[in-house]
Amino acid sequence: MNAELTELKETIETALDQHLPADSPIARPLTDAMRYAALGGGKRLRPMMLCATCTALGGTLRSALTPACALEFVHAYSLVHDDLPCMDDDDLRHGHPSCHKAYGEATAVLTGDALLTTAFEVLAGAPGLTAETRVRLVQLLAAAAGWGGMVGGQHFDLMAEGGNLDLNDLQALHAAKTGALIRVAIQGGGLIAGADDGELTLLDRFAGKLGLAFQVVDDVLDVTRSSKELGKPANSDIEADKSTFVALMGINEATSFAGALLDEALDMLKSIGLEHSQLAQIAVMAVRRTF
Ligand code: IPE
Ligand code: IPE
Ligand code: MG
Ligand code: MG
Ligand code: MG
Repeated sequence: MNAELTELKETIETALDQHLPADSPIARPLTDAMRYAALGGGKRLRPMMLCATCTALGGTLRSALTPACALEFVHAYSLVHDDLPCMDDDDLRHGHPSCHKAYGEATAVLTGDALLTTAFEVLAGAPGLTAETRVRLVQLLAAAAGWGGMVGGQHFDLMAEGGNLDLNDLQALHAAKTGALIRVAIQGGGLIAGADDGELTLLDRFAGKLGLAFQVVDDVLDVTRSSKELGKPANSDIEADKSTFVALMGINEATSFAGALLDEALDMLKSIGLEHSQLAQIAVMAVRRTF
């Protein structure tokens, strides 16, 4: 990662820290667990995408930063719940015991709940935005996180265990469970910057390709990297008999599919003159990653 992106990541991590409770007379160790789940690692790709989209289109980092944190809190919550025994039953996240392993299942469920609600509390008070933009962002994030987006996709993912989804169904699954939060990163950044409808449409198509490529790569890494490299259990999908792109098309074809999606996504950025932006660098980083 170059110096500018490293700085952006650090700025995001400082802001995340500031938005989390330091302590609570009634809610410990819940507040510790929130900090553990949200600050304990992660690539921060979604908030970086939101900030980079906003600045690429002439918006300020300051106006993007709080919505970016809200999005990352939703993502962090999704991982806490994803690892629970009733879902993927994974004991390792970011190279450390998963939240439920460190704090117990009940606290992990509540940690997810608290991160999700914190996300909307923070977003509703985001500085430097009009009230109308804040409401629109709340609506977009809620829709992306909920039954028609990430939560719906997670449900579909669990229901599809042991099944044989075809390409269309698997794309729909990935678009919901992973694509929705990536699309909202890009849409949110565009909205804050005041992008016009034409730009927003193109950006959304870019984000759709990128979101799918991102989850295809996640499926590939699950079977090609070690738990140590990933910081989460390798072969988790195989053990749960998940419907993945690797199961459907094999490692090589899935890898080329992700590469082709990235190329298509970058072509879309080019069509709006953003091929040399930080956003393009983040897109490449997100797909060509090794963990
Ligand atoms: C993991 O996402 C969950 C998926 C949607 C594949 P990331 O790989 O972005 O998770 P962290 O936050 O960087 O660990
Ligand atoms: C989870 O997908 C996506 C979420 C919405 C959390 P995975 O179950 O493949 O994510 P990892 O591999 O555990 O990070
Ligand atoms: Mg999962
Ligand atoms: Mg998982
Ligand atoms: Mg995975």
